[in-house]
Amino acid sequence: MKQLLFFSNNKNKIIEIKKIFKKFNFDLLSLNDLNISEEPEESGQTFEENAKIKSDHGFNKTGIPCFADDSGICIESLNWKPGVLSKRFLNNFKNKEVCFKSIFKSIKNSGKQNAYFKTSISLTINKNQNIIFNGKIYGRISEQIKGSFGFGYDPIFIPKNYNKTLAELSTKDKNEISHRSIAVNKLINFLSN
Ligand code: IMP
Repeated sequence: MKQLLFFSNNKNKIIEIKKIFKKFNFDLLSLNDLNISEEPEESGQTFEENAKIKSDHGFNKTGIPCFADDSGICIESLNWKPGVLSKRFLNNFKNKEVCFKSIFKSIKNSGKQNAYFKTSISLTINKNQNIIFNGKIYGRISEQIKGSFGFGYDPIFIPKNYNKTLAELSTKDKNEISHRSIAVNKLINFLSN
């Protein structure tokens, strides 16, 4: 069975990815399995660059083909930011509600409601050889904070052709349309061919 390393310390992501990979013929390892705890600085300007920094690092440390992901939200009224800084942007406010209200204000001021989530996965299969798989979900920022499922910006994001926020959808329903699952499916297609 071929070994493959998922470069992440995020327990929920590891569980989710291991579940998806169960039906495929890969021995999927995570950083925990290899006792690697140190992670490189995510100094890239794009999701692709940050994912590559992590997957290259994993491959260089272990010699095992390695993939890593990087995601975030891009909001039109914030000039398509916070992007790669999504986690830090949220953490800079006193709490989520204050952050979301400041986003609502920028939408009121600009009249622009569009937003999208993006995930980039980088798979490093050799030194200096990596492949990128992208997933995006388009939608708009809601007028109110709604729903209690999911995480991050889910309570203020309404996918295109929906009238509920991602946080009002069950995990299963979110996974059917999410940026992350689109990118993961592309990775799996590549690996199984
Ligand atoms: P990560 O690179 O997947 O860890 O995502 C970075 C940050 O982007 C997270 O901490 C969230 O704030 C935001 N984010 C990424 N994906 C999602 C999502 O599916 N829903 C809501 N927020 C997300």
